[in-house]
Amino acid sequence: MSENQTPISRSHLVTPVIPRSLIVKVQGVSLPDHIAKAFEAASAFTPDPSDLIIISYPKSGTTWIQEIVDLLLHNGDDGSSKRASIVKRHPFLEYCICYEPSGLDLLKEMDPPRVIKTHMPLQLVPAGFWENKCKIIYIARNAKDTLVSYYHFLRMSKISPEPGPWEGFIHKFMRGELGWGSWYDHVKGYWEEREKRNILFLFYEDMKENPRREIERIMKYLDLYLPDDVISHIVEMTTFKNMEENPMVNYSFFGKEIFDQTISKFMRKGEIGDWKNHFTPEQSAEFDEDYQKKMKNVNIPFRAQF
Ligand code: A3P
Repeated sequence: MSENQTPISRSHLVTPVIPRSLIVKVQGVSLPDHIAKAFEAASAFTPDPSDLIIISYPKSGTTWIQEIVDLLLHNGDDGSSKRASIVKRHPFLEYCICYEPSGLDLLKEMDPPRVIKTHMPLQLVPAGFWENKCKIIYIARNAKDTLVSYYHFLRMSKISPEPGPWEGFIHKFMRGELGWGSWYDHVKGYWEEREKRNILFLFYEDMKENPRREIERIMKYLDLYLPDDVISHIVEMTTFKNMEENPMVNYSFFGKEIFDQTISKFMRKGEIGDWKNHFTPEQSAEFDEDYQKKMKNVNIPFRAQF
């Protein structure tokens, strides 16, 4: 080795092991501690009025909407949508894992209009999004399928809090103790404000029933008018099967120390009603009774919940 060469320490070659996060409360909302650390900086973020934000409770079909939006914005050009991983194309606002660029780092490098992802409940969304009247797409999924998807996700996401045993996990969900808090408050918050704040409120079950119809709704909300053949192409590109095989959206770009997909795939099943393969009749009855109480004052037309 010449004098000018710096020896490479072996530790630089080893991927650091990031411990699983713990849940902490921020303004009464449960958040993984690494997300809580980035909360203040994320709250101070000022978007441009042209920025679009995609919001959801985790595991509601966020990535599906992101890919559709990206294709719509690029006139159905899948070469363009494959330009980078979905986390680089659409920064995750509050995301901050030590050695990855954070959502805010990525945003600083991008010029508006940007597409931004967040799981924040309505009251924790940075004020600038409301002040600047940014467009907002919210995707919701029935509670039991969201819970099942979240359970399998946490088993394989090695940086997220431990899901613990299945039975206890159901109760954590019901008590709002999982990352990003109460599913019930999350969906109610956005549902109640959807008209006043011009939020496009979508349902996963509607997307499954008729993806073309829902893609056209998104297109109109974005003030885009694409020809029929382009829309057909977008429908095809965003089927579960095609997204499952697409390395830019199936999260295979994350190493095993972040997402260990040998345990469960990120694109796991993509079905409605998988909760029936998980809940016992007793668990389902207990969940439903609690659900009716928590949701009694709102009539959000979720399907496949019972
Ligand atoms: P499952 O775990 O039930 O399979 P998010 O993107 O919010 O993390 O949500 C992930 C869930 O959406 C996963 O649900 C995943 O399979 C599903 N999903 C992603 N893309 C999909 C698609 N094109 N069609 C149907 N479901 C999809």
